[in-house]
Amino acid sequence: MSEKTSSLNRMLALEMGRVTERAAVCSALWVGRGDEKSADQAAVDAMRRELNVIDIDGTVVIGEGERDEAPMLYIGEQVGTGKGPKVDIALDPLEGTTLTAKAMPNAMAVLAAAAGGTLLHAPDTYMDKIAIGGGYAEGIVDLDASPADNINALAKAKGVKPSEITACILDRPRHADLIRAVRETGARVTLITDGDIAGVIATTDPSTGVDIYMGTGGAPEGVLAAAALRCIGGQMQGRLVTSSDAQKARAEKMGIADFNRKYCMSEMASGDVIFAATGVTDGWLLDGIHYERGGVTTHTLVMRSATGTVRHLKSFHASPDKFK
Ligand code: FBP
Repeated sequence: MSEKTSSLNRMLALEMGRVTERAAVCSALWVGRGDEKSADQAAVDAMRRELNVIDIDGTVVIGEGERDEAPMLYIGEQVGTGKGPKVDIALDPLEGTTLTAKAMPNAMAVLAAAAGGTLLHAPDTYMDKIAIGGGYAEGIVDLDASPADNINALAKAKGVKPSEITACILDRPRHADLIRAVRETGARVTLITDGDIAGVIATTDPSTGVDIYMGTGGAPEGVLAAAALRCIGGQMQGRLVTSSDAQKARAEKMGIADFNRKYCMSEMASGDVIFAATGVTDGWLLDGIHYERGGVTTHTLVMRSATGTVRHLKSFHASPDKFK
């Protein structure tokens, strides 16, 4: 979609960056304080407050949970002034609550805005994911291929040995077999304790050293990561993991009929999309919030699929107290 036909204009992209900036600054007050809940709440409050002053007719499609379990930014909540374009909002006000509480890398405030009806309404279940960065032929890795086949195919396409490939995987007991299979190819594994949106986006940036993301993480995070890759380039596939009848019922309620369906990136985020993220703690992609004399600095990534623009906004905020 071109700039002229896009309903999501560049000003909206910058507004979205402002929203994640404020969520990040507010949650950063809780970095290293061992309190996940307060850190998350600060981000949620700030994100909601800022979204509600933007001229959009927004609906939260990926949010803090179902209406009965999340008082704010629940799925279906209307956000914005109601005056502008119809927009679907997918958000994770604080991706990496534990990373924030423990002052570990890669926590960030994340938001995607898409033309109405174009984001997969993912339930709060797990998703099997595989992702690589841009510049490769379509389909060289596949969720249904073995870890060894994927690593070998990627190494061949990159023109390196499998031992020169690095896979990023969440450090969880459920990934023991996957980690073993990847290491058996000779490839390296970078284990992360949390934050797989950053893990997926890391594949698009050679400076991170990450070539491929593999494994099971949150489904909402999967859709947000797919939205990011739609803007910056790369490939991703995901499949929901529904392990109980209650989860299946939740997925059905959100319009999922086929639980085994493998979604490609453009099925998870099919339309014109904006992605914004601001670092809370320093990470692969973004610097975190830093306190300077007289204010704070933020580092925000704002991207649009319509134009493929990737903006890194480094900002100084003289009165961060006003954000609260
Ligand atoms: P929170 O910010 O909600 O704590 O999620 C962090 C996260 O690591 C995600 O990035 C990831 O998709 C998911 O949790 C993995 O879930 P689990 O911790 O259950 O393995």
